[in-house]
Amino acid sequence: MRHNDQTVFVTGAGQGIGAATAQRFAEAGAFVIVSDVDIDSGEETVEAINSGDSSGRATFVELDVADGEAFETAIDATADEYGLDVLVNNAGVAHSLTTIEETDASVFEYVLDVNVRGVWNGCRAALPHLKQQGSGNIVNVGSLASFYGLPKQGAYSLSKGAIMNFTRAVAAEAGRAGVRCNAVCPAFTDTELGRKFFAGRDDPERAKEIMLKRYPLGRLAQPGEIADAISFLASGEASYITGEGLRIDGGFSTSWLYWQADTALSWSVSQWRSNKTPGFSHHFIGAPWVLKRAGSLWISVTGGGKC
Ligand SMILES: NC(=O)c1ccc[n+]([C@@H]2O[C@H](COP(=O)([O-])OP(=O)(O)OC[C@H]3O[C@@H](n4cnc5c(N)ncnc54)[C@H](O)[C@@H]3O)[C@@H](O)[C@H]2O)c1
Repeated sequence: MRHNDQTVFVTGAGQGIGAATAQRFAEAGAFVIVSDVDIDSGEETVEAINSGDSSGRATFVELDVADGEAFETAIDATADEYGLDVLVNNAGVAHSLTTIEETDASVFEYVLDVNVRGVWNGCRAALPHLKQQGSGNIVNVGSLASFYGLPKQGAYSLSKGAIMNFTRAVAAEAGRAGVRCNAVCPAFTDTELGRKFFAGRDDPERAKEIMLKRYPLGRLAQPGEIADAISFLASGEASYITGEGLRIDGGFSTSWLYWQADTALSWSVSQWRSNKTPGFSHHFIGAPWVLKRAGSLWISVTGGGKC
């Protein structure tokens, strides 16, 4: 099995992507340290693993990742008792939709403390052990916000961008010691955190519908799909990959042309349908826009050349 006899430490593993990741590693034979600031959900993850069919097993450690001393103690104890092969820095928080100037200082500090300081604390605690044994993997959980700035998610975007560049720094520094460090960068995923984002909109269902139009796969990611990528990056199958940020976004990042074409088409169809007394003027309004879009699509795809 992919992670047989390995020890894997996962933060924020009480629910969502972290819980799915703990489950995935256990299914692949690992012993998993499930850590979370929330004791009840963390213990539920452990119970689900230990009472299931996984060949790997799990135990719970209460941990607030923003607390550097506690992180170091938890990692040292894990390494001493079980060894340490993989650290997954997954714990993260988002904030409600607010402009940068309206974001409260306490919200900013909280997001940076968990998302950035938490990843820093984890790497700082794990690296001495991994370097000393000359092997090991760290996988940080970034976001598409590691590459794009999300409006009204300023603090979150800042934190996730920082995680991506820090991932590169760790990879550069620890590579010679046989340690790899990568990040997964998911788009919207069907978890509590993902659902909160839509819940903050005026019309959550409509917001989701519009968002999904931009995804060629037409749906949100499931937590298990992010867990699969984390497991892959921490495995021997990814032995020459380090300092990388793997986008897991259903094609969102590459879908600009797709989105334009889809939007132009559905807009012109809705114009056509909503026109109760079809006449030249209504069709005329939509025509130049659609033609312009079709033209720019053609130029983008062909480089403007003739066939
Ligand atoms: N869900 C998405 O749409 C999405 C998209 C991109 C990236 N991400 C990232 O994935 C990671 C997991 O998110 P999720 O969607 O599973 O969220 P979630 O809210 O469902 O789960 C987060 C877990 O982290 C724990 N946690 C929060 N603060 C903590 C702290 N200080 N110390 C330890 N544990 C803490 C929570 O108790 C919870 O169990 C986060 O880093 C998030 O930014 C999520």
